[in-house]
Amino acid sequence: PGLRPSLAFHPGINRLGSARHERAIIHDGNELMAGWYDAAGPLLRLLPPETAHRLAVRALAWGLAPLPKRRDFALLKTRLWGRDFASPIGLAAGFDKDAEVIDGLLAMGFDFVEAGTVTPLPQKGNPKPRLFRLTEDRALINRLGFNSGGLDAFAARLDGRRRRGWVGVNIGVNKDSADPIADYVAGLEALHDRATYIAVNVSSPNTPGLREFQMRDALATLVRTLMETRAKLTPEDRRPLPLLIKIAPDLDESAIADIAVVALELGLDGMIISNTTIARGGLESPQKDETGGLSGAPLFARSTSLLAAMFRVTEGRVPLIGVGGVASGADAYAKIRAGASLVQLYTALIYHGPGLVGSIKADLAARLKADGFTHIADAVGVDV
Ligand code: FNR
Repeated sequence: PGLRPSLAFHPGINRLGSARHERAIIHDGNELMAGWYDAAGPLLRLLPPETAHRLAVRALAWGLAPLPKRRDFALLKTRLWGRDFASPIGLAAGFDKDAEVIDGLLAMGFDFVEAGTVTPLPQKGNPKPRLFRLTEDRALINRLGFNSGGLDAFAARLDGRRRRGWVGVNIGVNKDSADPIADYVAGLEALHDRATYIAVNVSSPNTPGLREFQMRDALATLVRTLMETRAKLTPEDRRPLPLLIKIAPDLDESAIADIAVVALELGLDGMIISNTTIARGGLESPQKDETGGLSGAPLFARSTSLLAAMFRVTEGRVPLIGVGGVASGADAYAKIRAGASLVQLYTALIYHGPGLVGSIKADLAARLKADGFTHIADAVGVDV
């Protein structure tokens, strides 16, 4: 019976004789889980990646997934937007697009989960196949194109959950929308009272035109409109819901400067850096030329240098969430030192399984301690 849940969680097992490697990553009393992966990996490799992902979500929804033992570390505690986070490690958008398994993901050890991207109306997304494993590169390419069950179902699921833990909500637009700004406004209105923060996705490469909202005037108009909507929705005695934008890693210096100006002038609550890249290069997997957004290990350097650049131009005054290629405590630590107050991951979870979350936290805590930090916040941006 132990095999079934783990089947759902090793869609991308490597071909390098993974057993020893997996065991090295999953420590912390989770050896049992590592054993499950060794057994399940070769089977799961036979499944198309999107099927494997659906299985993972179903296993979590049914409470079948093996959950690692939770360990907290005092020096990983951090405070942002008036909220206490047990650690800075969260799940990036796109895994739980329809808010189906937030509680299971929190139980896996993530200290915040970003659900979505959700679009106002349900839509199917692009034709399949649209998700590709680049196993040799520890990467994925996806061109899902916002497959979404829509806002109504999403909001109902948020209402139905246990309501513990921090949940960011990532909002987008329908592919055939005549008024994309109105779509974002609809997302904010529907989810305003149901989220820890709102992430405005202006960086998916798979919805035509979306990335143009990163240009200075378009971004300013969008953010201003959302802030006006937020003001109307916020009772006088409550602090405004944090509003963040999620940006692409494919921006040049002047685009970075423009976004920084908008963020500072309008008082954005944060930025998520970054989404997947449309750039390629140095990849070995047969699927490397598929169209879509590339995530995982090859995205690490590019997204981390953008993170550092944004931290520098905003002089550390805008909280940043670092995401892109994080697969270890060392990677998470590098993001923090490059300016991230919080860190997210997705792709590495596919390659390493849920034990990764706990091992990243343990390793991150050890690294902070070794460098003499007593609070993680003191390490934010020290490399910049
Ligand atoms: C994503 N990502 C994503 N981002 C977003 O803002 N909205 C979304 O709906 C999705 N969907 C999505 C699907 C899949 C299959 C992947 C792999 C990724 C991007 C994701 O949140 C993250 O920014 C990047 O994947 C980089 O992080 P990792 O995966 O390298 O840790």
